[in-house]
Amino acid sequence: VILGIDIGTSGCKALLLDPQGRVIAADTATYGLSQPRPGWTEQDPELWIEGARAAVAGALAKAGAVEILAVGLSGQMHGLTPLDADMNVLRPALLWNDQRNAAECAEITEAAGGLEGMLAAVNNRMLIGYTGGKIVWMQRHEPELFARLRHVLNPKDYLRFRLTGERATEVSDASGTGLFDVRTRRWADDLIGRIGIDARLLPPAHESHVITGRIDARGAALFGLPAGIPVAGGGGDSVIQTIGSGVIAPGELQTTIGTAGILAAALDAPQPNPDGRLQVFCNVAPDKWHCMGVSMNAGGAMGWFRQVMTAGFGTGALPAFDEIVAEAAASPAGARGLLFLPYLNGERCPHPDPQARGAFVGLTARHTRGDVARSVMEGVVHAFVDMYALMRPMGIAGTIVKASGGGARSPLWRQMQADMFGCDVVTTEGAAEGAAFGAALVAGVGIGIWPDAGTAAATCRDLTREHPTADAGRIYARANDIYRGLYSALRESFV
Ligand code: XUL
Repeated sequence: VILGIDIGTSGCKALLLDPQGRVIAADTATYGLSQPRPGWTEQDPELWIEGARAAVAGALAKAGAVEILAVGLSGQMHGLTPLDADMNVLRPALLWNDQRNAAECAEITEAAGGLEGMLAAVNNRMLIGYTGGKIVWMQRHEPELFARLRHVLNPKDYLRFRLTGERATEVSDASGTGLFDVRTRRWADDLIGRIGIDARLLPPAHESHVITGRIDARGAALFGLPAGIPVAGGGGDSVIQTIGSGVIAPGELQTTIGTAGILAAALDAPQPNPDGRLQVFCNVAPDKWHCMGVSMNAGGAMGWFRQVMTAGFGTGALPAFDEIVAEAAASPAGARGLLFLPYLNGERCPHPDPQARGAFVGLTARHTRGDVARSVMEGVVHAFVDMYALMRPMGIAGTIVKASGGGARSPLWRQMQADMFGCDVVTTEGAAEGAAFGAALVAGVGIGIWPDAGTAAATCRDLTREHPTADAGRIYARANDIYRGLYSALRESFV
C-alpha cells in the first residue's frame, strides 16, 4: 500500500491506498493553533510530528498487516518553519492564514519593481499568507532569531526532514512561497537577491512525484515504520487536492466549499496571471500548472448565517444545516430577486480587498427566511462564477465540475453549481478523503504504480452527479450579471 500523510491546519490525516486506488484505512489526529495576537496564527511543528505519528499508527492499526511501498506528503501551504544550522526549530511556525506581514509583502513587491515586477518574476502577487513575506518579517522583527536562521521549510517538508533527514521541497509548495518562478519551475534567484535574503535558506525543489529520500533510522524509530521506504515530493494541499479529486484534464474544474471557497483547474501552460488576481502555481504533474482563485467566504458565510440569522431568540438553539437547507430549497432559483454579496471577511479573489464587505441587495418585505438562506448559498456560487470569468481568458472552459469540501455534501449547493456553470457536477471518492489521497496518488506515480498523474487521477470514481437545468440557468445568468456589478457599485460604502 501507499501511505499518504496530510499535515492540515486543524489536524493530520494518514491514509493507506492500495495499488487499485482503493482506500484501505485512514485515521486523523487533531491539534490546535495558537493566536498570540489578533491576526497571528502559529503552530509548534512538534504538533505536526505528534499528529502524524498518531494518525499513521491509527491507520496502520485499522489496516492490519500491510507492506508500505512509498510515502506521499501533503500539507497546509505557505507556512514558515524556521530552522537553525542543526535543523532545530527556532520559533513556532507562522501559518498560511497569519496576517502580520502586510508591510513586508509591500516591501518585497517594491523591491521587485512593483506588481509588474512581481508578476514578471514569479507570475503571482506576494499575498500576505505567502512564505516570502514571513521570512522578511522575521528579519525585521526578530533579528536575533533571524541571525541564526539557516533553513526554511514548509510544514510537510519539515515532516519529510523528520522522516528522511533530507531537506527538500517540491514545485507546488515552492510556488506558494512567492519566491519561485512557476514558469521555469525554479527558485526566482533574481527576486530573492533583490529582497536581500540568502537563497541557501530555501531547500532544493524537485518535481512532485520525485522520490526525495528514504525513511532513515531516526524516522523509522519515530514513526514505527521500516527504514528504507521511499518518500515522494508530494504537494501543497490545495494543489494536490485537485488530482485527488480527479481534476487534471482540460475542461475539469474543481470547486471546494470549506470555510473558504476554492475554484481550481489544471493548465497545460503557465498562463499569464493578469493583475495577479488568481494564483498560478506549478501542478504536481510535471508538464502542468495549477490555477486557482480563493474566496475567503464560502461555508463560513453559511456558518455566519446559521449563527446570526437563525438562532432561536431566548433559547439560543441553532437549527441543523439540513433544516436551513430544506428551507432554502423551498425558495425558487434566484431567491425571488434577493442577492447576497459574501465578502464577510474581506476578499482575496476576484477582488484582492481586505476591506470588502458583505451585503444583501434587493430585500423586500415578502422575502422569507428561506429566500435569505438561499441567497447566501447562491452568493457563494456567484463568487465561484466571478472567479471563473478571470480563468476563461486562460483558455479554461469547464465541461464538468468536481465538487469537494463540506459544502459538496449538499445536493442543493451542487445543483446551484450545475445550473450556474451550465455543466454536470460530480463528487468523487477521492475528494472526500482530502489532500492525503492526492499525496498517496503522487507517491504512487513516483514508484511507477501509475505511469503519470493523469492515469492516477483516473482512479477516482464518481459518487454523485447533478445535471444543469435550462430555466434555472437563465435566471442565474441574469443574477450573475447584476452580482458582478455590485462590488464596484458598493465599494465606496464599505467603511
Ligand atoms: C492556499 C491556501 C490554503 C492553505 C490551507 O493558497 O492558502 O489552501 O494551503 O491549508
